Amino acid sequence: MLFMKPSTNFSSFFISSNLYMGYCLLFLTIFLVFPPASSLSSLEYIYPNFTASEFQHIDSSGVFLSSRNGTFAAAIFNPGALKTNFYLCIIHMASNAIIWSANRDTPISSSGIMNLTTKGITVSDQYGNLRWSTPPLQSSVYALLLTEMGNLVLLDHSNSSLWESFHYPTDTIVIGQHLPVGMYLSSAASDYNLSSSIYNFTISTSDALLQWYGQTYWKLSMDTKAFIISNYVVKYMAINRTGLFLLGHDASEIFIQVSLPPADFRIGKLGPLGRFTVQSFSDAQWEQEFSGPDSSCRTPSICGQMGLCTDNSPSITPICSCPSGFQAGSQNMSGCVPSDDSQSLPLACNSTNNGSQLNSSIVSFLGLGYGIDYFSNDFSQPLKYGVNLTVCQDLCSGDCSCLGIFYGNSSGSCYMLENELGSFTSRNSGGMNLLGYIKVSGSNTTTNDNGPPPNSSSNHKKRLRVVVLVLLLSTSILLLVALGLLIWMRWKLSKTKEIKLGGFNSQSSEDLDAFYIPGLPKRFDYEELEVATDKFSTQIGSGGFGSVYKGTLSDKSVVAIKKITNLGIQGRKEFCTEIAVIGNVHHVNLVRLKGFCVHGRQRLLVYEYMNHGSLDRTLFGSGPVLEWQERFDVALGSARGLAYLHSGCEHKIIHCDVKPENILLDDHLQAKISDFGLSKLLSPEQSGLFTTMRGTRGYLAPEWLTTSAISEKTDVYSFGMVLLELVSGRKNCSLQSQSHSIEDSDSGGGHFLSSSRSGLVYYPLFALEMHEQGKYLELVDPRLEGRVTREEVEKLVHVALCCLYEEPALRPNMISVVGMLEGGIPLGQPRTESLNFLRFYGCRFTEASTIMDPNGSLSYPQANSLQTGFSYISSQQISGPR
Ligand SMILES: *[C@@H]1O[C@H](CO)[C@@H](O)[C@H](O)[C@H]1NC(C)=O
Ligand SMILES: *[C@@H]1O[C@H](CO)[C@@H](O)[C@H](O)[C@H]1NC(C)=O
Ligand SMILES: *[C@@H]1O[C@H](CO)[C@@H](O)[C@H](O)[C@H]1NC(C)=O
Ligand SMILES: *[C@@H]1O[C@H](CO)[C@@H](O)[C@H](O)[C@H]1NC(C)=O
Ligand SMILES: *[C@@H]1O[C@H](CO)[C@@H](O)[C@H](O)[C@H]1NC(C)=O
Repeated sequence: MLFMKPSTNFSSFFISSNLYMGYCLLFLTIFLVFPPASSLSSLEYIYPNFTASEFQHIDSSGVFLSSRNGTFAAAIFNPGALKTNFYLCIIHMASNAIIWSANRDTPISSSGIMNLTTKGITVSDQYGNLRWSTPPLQSSVYALLLTEMGNLVLLDHSNSSLWESFHYPTDTIVIGQHLPVGMYLSSAASDYNLSSSIYNFTISTSDALLQWYGQTYWKLSMDTKAFIISNYVVKYMAINRTGLFLLGHDASEIFIQVSLPPADFRIGKLGPLGRFTVQSFSDAQWEQEFSGPDSSCRTPSICGQMGLCTDNSPSITPICSCPSGFQAGSQNMSGCVPSDDSQSLPLACNSTNNGSQLNSSIVSFLGLGYGIDYFSNDFSQPLKYGVNLTVCQDLCSGDCSCLGIFYGNSSGSCYMLENELGSFTSRNSGGMNLLGYIKVSGSNTTTNDNGPPPNSSSNHKKRLRVVVLVLLLSTSILLLVALGLLIWMRWKLSKTKEIKLGGFNSQSSEDLDAFYIPGLPKRFDYEELEVATDKFSTQIGSGGFGSVYKGTLSDKSVVAIKKITNLGIQGRKEFCTEIAVIGNVHHVNLVRLKGFCVHGRQRLLVYEYMNHGSLDRTLFGSGPVLEWQERFDVALGSARGLAYLHSGCEHKIIHCDVKPENILLDDHLQAKISDFGLSKLLSPEQSGLFTTMRGTRGYLAPEWLTTSAISEKTDVYSFGMVLLELVSGRKNCSLQSQSHSIEDSDSGGGHFLSSSRSGLVYYPLFALEMHEQGKYLELVDPRLEGRVTREEVEKLVHVALCCLYEEPALRPNMISVVGMLEGGIPLGQPRTESLNFLRFYGCRFTEASTIMDPNGSLSYPQANSLQTGFSYISSQQISGPR
């Protein structure tokens, strides 16, 4: 029997439709010659002492054990045509898919045997040498059972399980199997050689990851099909008839859900090329239902070491070439090497040469030119920000594990490539503007900045590893070259058009199609949004970014459409990159971005509509008062949303503008943070450095005034302010509290009472004072008329004060805030010495916007004279959809 999976996983570079059809035919023939399992003599249990081998036992196909209805069989089996590697396997009979193998790394020949004894299972070669065995068992084996789910189980005399194949997954998971946290699937070298290879699929407590030599290249949570349902800590992954799930303690605690059409048999498999796919099998064929990453170029070594992968969508087969300055490697090595023979990659670190083995005079850096990206840049933080290229290169030269760098010129961010070099991907334009350099030794040429890489299909041909069916391949090459040419020409065309018409005013759909950004949410037509909003007639908000309109899409869903006018970011590509990030963040406590629209210079964002509007209206408005329990839930929900932004998702997102206006409430008064990720749209480049102030008065942390870096702790400060407002039901700095207070503090020797003569109350200071006196109930919104829980009030005030610490490093992170609110993390006593600044700053600081200009120098404008320059944005309410 042959193992055939027509839709995926070929070790050759190209998959052509011809090849595919060839396999299908072959598959059908085989299927007819070997009818499915039902006709086999089926043994559900076998007992010690039992021996099976490929040729001598039970059945000519090597099957010695069959599940009750014959769905699965265990066999000594060889998946390829070349009868060399035999494995003890579990096979899904209808599809011939191997779902598990025992001795994947130690194959036996056709005369090897499998033995079942009271001590367990062993697999030995023809000379009787042990090649594989089950681990030592608790008690002696009574029977070996193959279940209808495909689980091979060793049972003891009381029928309890001693060992199960489900607990030792290989590269496949089936329905009924759990893949717990810490466990991983490991890819096979090929469909015929099952030995564990270079890609892993692992489960963490918050995600499912694909990794290559320890470097992450894909996360389930980033996939557009994955929805984050709740905040459970993940314990395991499972697939069933309706989808793929990351689950907490049991099946009811869903963290991430990928919904799939109902199917009776489905596998999740990490293929030899590093893609995790979910496929269902029905009517004698496989259907691929899910694939991560969804583009081939996003797998790390698709084009070999330093090969350049160019996406060729809609075809799933990418085009491989070499970056300029590189050429195809020698015959049996895939990938590229420096064109200059005298240059070679430095030796890897080992014990003898660790550290500074390389005399830096012989290390140089080979530039990759613009438009070339590397997968790890999306998954790692820069090693350093704000350094020059020389510094970045020196860091790499001095570290033997560093293989190269990517450098962002405008932010001075320095990314390092480590462990193992994979393939590069090409970007058609713009992007993060990172420049790559490969560390080489043995040449005295220094950096060389190359232009865009030439389209070198000849290079590629050299490296072609011809595997099978030369005829079929050559037709597929022709097809691909034609397709590649077509796409290149189209790209070229749209490119020249763009230049002619001058930048991004030349809006046309081709321009956007010219590049591909994975995970981009739905793109709407401007006309569609015009109809949805009845020509933008119902404005529901406005702010620094522009205006927000209510609309109804053709599918009847109600949306809030944000027209962004004050766009700082340059170009469609950069905009789309940000949108892809925002669009891929899914969490119950975050407002979902449904899509976007690019129309001329205008950018529109389409969000889900929240019936209850923003927290400020509910909390400060004149409507029904928000009850205590509802306030506490809003506090917890928004804390969870922020915690997710800071550490739950791929790109850390600092909100920069946390305030009640940006916390929306849904039908059930569940809090949802809005406008996250938008602060980036105003920045000149993707970077963790903020040079202009973007928050809103009243919620700004003190570090906005100093040169110290803005971090997620800045959001923690603003969140602390929101917590106090939830307790009091009014603005911390309401209109009547003018900035005279600071004069009081000056005259009063630096210490003024919040409830001073002028009748001003700076609420955060009042909260501090009441905390010092233990009078928490004084702080509560009088409209609640005492309907509160004292412990919870105390808890909120404590947490809020901890969030307000002057030193960002002392503030808790949002995960700890969630823990403290939930009760899992004990509350500390707030450190009053870190809060004394409240006595001095008062409303003057929070109310009068202080502007840091782009040069980094500080200027303190007069209060209320703010309507110029950057302050426009910072002082305006950047409102969310309401
Ligand atoms: C299996 O073989 C071992 C050693 O050859 C022997 O000690 C044992 O009694 C046998 N068990 C059964 C159930 O026949
Ligand atoms: C174990 O299970 C099998 C099949 O269900 C049954 O026939 C047998 O009696 C059970 N033995 C014990 C000790 O429960
Ligand atoms: C699949 O699992 C999910 C999560 O545990 C569950 O909600 C769903 O009902 C299951 N579907 C079926 C068909 O069992
Ligand atoms: C890079 O920065 C370092 C330290 O900040 C400085 O000594 C060096 O002169 C700079 N190099 C260039 C080329 O600007
Ligand atoms: C990097 O930026 C500097 C000034 O910002 C500029 O002079 C230089 O040409 C840039 N280098 C590259 C490689 O773009």
